[in-house]
Order: sequence, then structure tokens, then C-alpha cells
Amino acid sequence: MKEVKIGIIGGGLMGREMASAFARWCALEDVGATPVLTAIADLSDAARAWFDQIPSVKLSTSDYHELLASDEVDVVYVAVPHNLHEKIYLDVLAAGKDLFAEKPFGMDLRSAESIAKAAAESSSFVRCSSEFPFFPGVQRAFEYVRDGHCGRVLEAVSGFHHSSDLDATKAANWKRQSATCGEIGVLGDLGMHACHVPFRLGWYPERVFAQLSRGYQTRPDGKGGETTCDTWDNALLNSWVQPEGQEAFPLRFEMKRLAPGETNTWFFEVLGTEGGVRYSSKYPKQLQIFEAGKEQYWKTTDLGFSVPYKTITGGIFEVGFPDVIQQMWAAYIAEREGQLNGRFHCVTVDEAVASQKLFAAALTSQAQQTVEHV
Ligand SMILES: NC(=O)c1ccc[n+]([C@@H]2O[C@H](COP(=O)([O-])OP(=O)(O)OC[C@H]3O[C@@H](n4cnc5c(N)ncnc54)[C@H](O)[C@@H]3O)[C@@H](O)[C@H]2O)c1
Repeated sequence: MKEVKIGIIGGGLMGREMASAFARWCALEDVGATPVLTAIADLSDAARAWFDQIPSVKLSTSDYHELLASDEVDVVYVAVPHNLHEKIYLDVLAAGKDLFAEKPFGMDLRSAESIAKAAAESSSFVRCSSEFPFFPGVQRAFEYVRDGHCGRVLEAVSGFHHSSDLDATKAANWKRQSATCGEIGVLGDLGMHACHVPFRLGWYPERVFAQLSRGYQTRPDGKGGETTCDTWDNALLNSWVQPEGQEAFPLRFEMKRLAPGETNTWFFEVLGTEGGVRYSSKYPKQLQIFEAGKEQYWKTTDLGFSVPYKTITGGIFEVGFPDVIQQMWAAYIAEREGQLNGRFHCVTVDEAVASQKLFAAALTSQAQQTVEHV
């Protein structure tokens, strides 16, 4: 099978997760190319050492420019702190490599637009990371809404909740500070995840009112002292979507790093005049569908392993986070090979820039307590 040579810049939490998805590529049945991890770049020796166990990795370097100069790299996946996204993404494009960018796409709207411009001027294939839509339940919810089963949409919510930051003793890292995470804070961290499905349905908000809040303003710095944390931790974006020829409806985006009891809960709900649908990764195999009639029902069904990119895994088994990460990569590789065949694809450059437009409007709304046009 054709091989696609991958280089990873940033071998932390997500760099390792992606490497493990390539390592069990034999599970996939109908993607006509195999990603092979050939190179890793990370400033940390300890982070790079983990990749020594992967035999195909021939280049391990602290200088990512060396990775970009290698003929043994076709596609570069970048997973570094947000303040480095613009510089490194631009360098990847200038080196003529294809790019799989982590979210957020740049750390603000300006940087997203500068990356988008460079991408448009290049011949590189560029997509942005967002894996939750590859859960079978999300696929089914997406198709249900896309195919009009809700009737006229009355309201929708799309969100992503964490709670690990409720622990006040947790040391601050780069995600807690605007200088490295970006002024958009939680919007950069979790926002693209919440925007992916609504945007793919064509739901681009016209107006937004944002309620942003912070958690702990100081945290241990991990070296015996305290440090300031200035990022937004929780965000409610109350927006309006205007579908062509129909009533506008409210679409709420919820992104929280302080949501009591939630570990990694991605959810989506749409209610309409004729039907409705709900999915939450808290109950990963359950899909709920509303049936209107003389009596009204919420029907719950357990979905199996009905992923968009077929695998050897038995149809009744459950899907988890590593599976949807691999499905997202299957989408990237299949689309790059021209083999998408109508299946769900990764976040495009336009969708990523649109998310930054929404987040920029949200910052203004929060600062001025106004409803902002997006
Ligand atoms: N898709 C998802 O579900 C998901 C989940 C978590 C994080 N992320 C995103 O992934 C990215 C990275 O997050 P993470 O949690 O993996 O962070 P992390 O802190 O675990 O890892 C970042 C790595 O980048 C390395 N690094 C920093 N500067 C570098 C440089 N100049 N050159 C090379 N390496 C450098 C660090 O040494 C570290 O190993 C962020 O954009 C984040 O938003 C995505």
C-alpha cells in the first residue's frame, strides 16, 4: 500500500496520541494509503525519547527546521502551544509540506487569516484537527439534521466540557496564560470542537452575545511558587443563525474548563418542529432521537462500531477517543488521496478561519457587553 510519510512537531500529549493511531493502521479497511511516522521534532529530550520505540522514526531533532528540510516527510502534524502555531504553520507551508494543524488555527483571527493566505498561495493540503464528529453517534446526528428530519430548527446547542481545572492545586501550564494559550483562552482550547458540526451544517452565526468567565486567577507554578492565570476558562456564546428563507434560531456554544463532574464531554442537541436529536460523548454509544406525534417520545438506541472509515472491529463493539483520532486521520489521508467518496472530512481552512471570526466577535461582545455581528 502507498505510504504517506509523517513528521510530528510537538511530541507532547497529542503528538503521542497521533503516533499511536498510525501504529494500529492495520485496523482500517478502506483507506488507500498508510501513514508512516518518520520524524519527530520537540525541544524536550524526554518528549522525543518516547518516540525512540517507533522503528520507522529515523529523524529525532530539537530543531523543527531540520524536520521540514527532510525528504522523508510529506505531511507535518503540529501540536505545540498556541503562540507558536502561526510561525510553525507558515514554516511548514514555506517548506512545501502538507499540513495537519492542531486547533486553534493560529492564536487569533489575524494569525488565522495569515495562515489561510499562505495556504491559499501554496499547493499544500491543509486541514485542522477536530475528532469528535467521527463518533458514530455524531455522524448519525449530523445526517439526521442535514437530511431535514428536525423540520424547522427551533434551537441547537453544541459544546465541550472539562473539569480538570476545578482542582486549584493543579499547576499552571501554557494553557492557563494568554501569552501562550491566546487571549481567547478556552475558545482556542475547546472552541473548534464545538464549531465543527454546526459549521458543516452551514450554521455560521450572524450575531453573538458572549459570557466569558475565569476560574482561579493564580495557581502553583510547579516550582514552589504561584503564578497568574489570565485566560478565560468558561464560555457561553449565545448566537443567532439565519437559515435561508426560514426563521432565525438560537445556537448556543458551550466551552468550559470548569464544568463540575465532566472529564471530556462533547455534546450536540438540535430541537425542531418535527424531530430532534441528542448526542453526548458521556454515553458514547447512545443516540437519542425525538419522535413527535399524538404522544411524544425520546427514543434511545445503542450504536455499535459504525464509523465512517471502515475497520476490522466487530460491529457491536464500542468506539473510544483513540478510535475517533484514527478516524480523523483516515479522513485526512483519504481526502489527500482523493478517496473521500462523500465521507465526512476534517475541518477546512475556511471553517477554521470562521471559528476565529466567531471567537474575535465573542471577545468584543464580552468586553463591551454587546451583541456583535460575526
Ligand atoms: N484535538 C484534541 O483533542 C486536542 C487535545 C489536547 C490538545 N490539543 C491541541 O494540541 C496542541 C498541543 O497540545 P498538547 O496538549 O499536546 O500540549 P503539550 O504541552 O502536551 O505538548 C506540546 C509539546 O510541544 C513541544 N514544543 C514547544 N515548543 C516547541 C518548538 N518550538 N519546537 C518543537 N516542539 C515544541 C513541547 O516540548 C511539548 O512536548 C495544542 O494546539 C492543543 O490545543 C488538541
